[in-house]
Amino acid sequence: MRRPILGGNWKMNKDLGQALAYASAFKEAVLGVDDADIVIFPPSVYIEKLSEAFKGSPVATGVQNLFWEEKGAFTGELSTSMVKSVGATYVLIGHSERRQYFSETNETVNKRLKAVLKAGLIPMLCVGERLEEREANETFSVIEKQLKEGLAGLSKDDAKKLTVAYEPVWAIGTGKTATPAIAQEVHGHIRGLLNSLFGKEIGESIRLAYGGSVTQENIDNLMAEKDIDGALVGGASLDPVSFERIVRFRRK
Ligand code: 13P
Repeated sequence: MRRPILGGNWKMNKDLGQALAYASAFKEAVLGVDDADIVIFPPSVYIEKLSEAFKGSPVATGVQNLFWEEKGAFTGELSTSMVKSVGATYVLIGHSERRQYFSETNETVNKRLKAVLKAGLIPMLCVGERLEEREANETFSVIEKQLKEGLAGLSKDDAKKLTVAYEPVWAIGTGKTATPAIAQEVHGHIRGLLNSLFGKEIGESIRLAYGGSVTQENIDNLMAEKDIDGALVGGASLDPVSFERIVRFRRK
C-alpha cells in the first residue's frame, strides 16, 4: 500500500500576510488527517515562518527549487542545507515551468536530485509532455527520456525516497485535466519504467502523483486509479478550503 501524498504548489503567489492567514486556517482544517502526507510548497522566503506555523499539524513544507552546490559564489541561489535549516523537508525538482522558463534540463534535474538525496531531503521529481509532443504521439518517449536521464546514477536506496509527479504541460493551469484514464495510462507506463530501472519491489513502492488542473471536483476519481497515489496541485491549493477537500479526498 502506498501512502497518498498531496502537495500544494503555490508557485509565485501570496504575500507574507496571506501565507500566514492560510497557514492558520489550513492547519486547523487538516488537524487529525493521518492517512496521507500533506506538503505545502510556498515561495522559499516563507518557509521558516510556515514551518513554524504548521508545527504540531500533519503539514510539511517544501521548496519549489534549489541549487545543487553547497555554498559559494552563486548569486540568487539557495542550497540544500539552507532550506533544511529553515524547516523544509521536501523539494520539487524539474517542474515544467522551471524547464520552460529557467533552462532546466534533464541533466540539471539529475544534479539537483542527487544533491537533495545527499542532504536527506525528499525529492518530488516532475515529468510531463507538452501538447505538441502528445499530439505527435511522443508522450511515452518524452517521459522515458526525462526519467532515464533525470534518475541516472541513482541507487536503489535513493529510488525508495523518490516521489514522481506526472504533470502533462497541456493540463497545467488550463482547466484541462487529464481524464483519470489518460493519467492512469501514463502512470502505468512510469511504473513499468521504474520497475525496470530499480526492480519491481522498489518500483511498486514509489509514489506517483498527478498534477494539472486538479480540483476538489476531480480529485476523487483521479485518486481511484491504481497507479495514482497523490496529486500536485497548483491553483486549487491556493484556497485552504479547496485544498482541504482535496487532502480529504474520498476513497472509492
Ligand atoms: P494547476 O493545478 O494550477 O494546473 O498547476 C499544476 C502544477 O503545476 C502543480 O505543480
